[in-house]
Amino acid sequence: MAGFELIKTDDGSWTLQSSVHGELYHSRHGAIQESRHVFIKYGLLEWLKSNSSPVSILEIGFGTGLNAFLTFLESRELDIEVYYTALEALPVPQKVYKGLDYPALLNAQEYEKAFLKMHDSPWNSRQTIDPFFFLEKKEISFEQIEDSSRFDIIYMDAFAPAAQPQFWENPFITQLFTALKPGGILTTYCAKGSFKRALKAAGFKVVAVPGPPGKREMTTAYKP
Ligand SMILES: C[S@@+](CC[C@H](N)C(=O)[O-])C[C@H]1O[C@@H](n2cnc3c(N)ncnc32)[C@H](O)[C@@H]1O
Repeated sequence: MAGFELIKTDDGSWTLQSSVHGELYHSRHGAIQESRHVFIKYGLLEWLKSNSSPVSILEIGFGTGLNAFLTFLESRELDIEVYYTALEALPVPQKVYKGLDYPALLNAQEYEKAFLKMHDSPWNSRQTIDPFFFLEKKEISFEQIEDSSRFDIIYMDAFAPAAQPQFWENPFITQLFTALKPGGILTTYCAKGSFKRALKAAGFKVVAVPGPPGKREMTTAYKP
């Protein structure tokens, strides 16, 4: 069975390291800081500049549920309806996600039940977390996605290319392109040249943007 170690990052928030992959789930410079910057600022908020609710999001790697929870908090704040689909092959066990403490760290204790519900709720069917947030967690491997023009935003949060090269190149990138609606955005912490070339080859328009603290650059990509 996989073991999970809790590790404190520089902004005081926890991340995980699993014995299966040996990789950190977030940047050492700050888990919450990184997720907010890469996925909320350059994903959700960027998309909302020219679109309105409802929004459908695909997350590549549910993991700690941090991206889902930050998105949930935004949906409350901005009054938007979110349909969130997350893929995950190695669900984090209850005793581990209970120790992550994200609701308290985000000063959102009143939504602790929602955070736990995201993790506790059944896999492979759409669950109502609250009237504005619908979550479908799929316990499948990334390459098994078969969706076509279904998502407005993709949070690409697989482990880094050094650990999982197949998810940063084609044909997988083309699967993501297919899953996205025209006008949709893919956002990720990765800025590797070969990844950006794979995005272009799949048909994306690629934009390099400033990375979170500790990282000069990251990538957003648009489906024309
Ligand atoms: C970098 S972590 C990010 C997790 C999550 N976004 C978070 O904020 O905690 C990558 C996640 O992808 C999952 N994963 C890795 N390879 C996978 C695969 N082939 N299929 C599905 N999930 C996978 C890992 O178990 C891990 O939860």
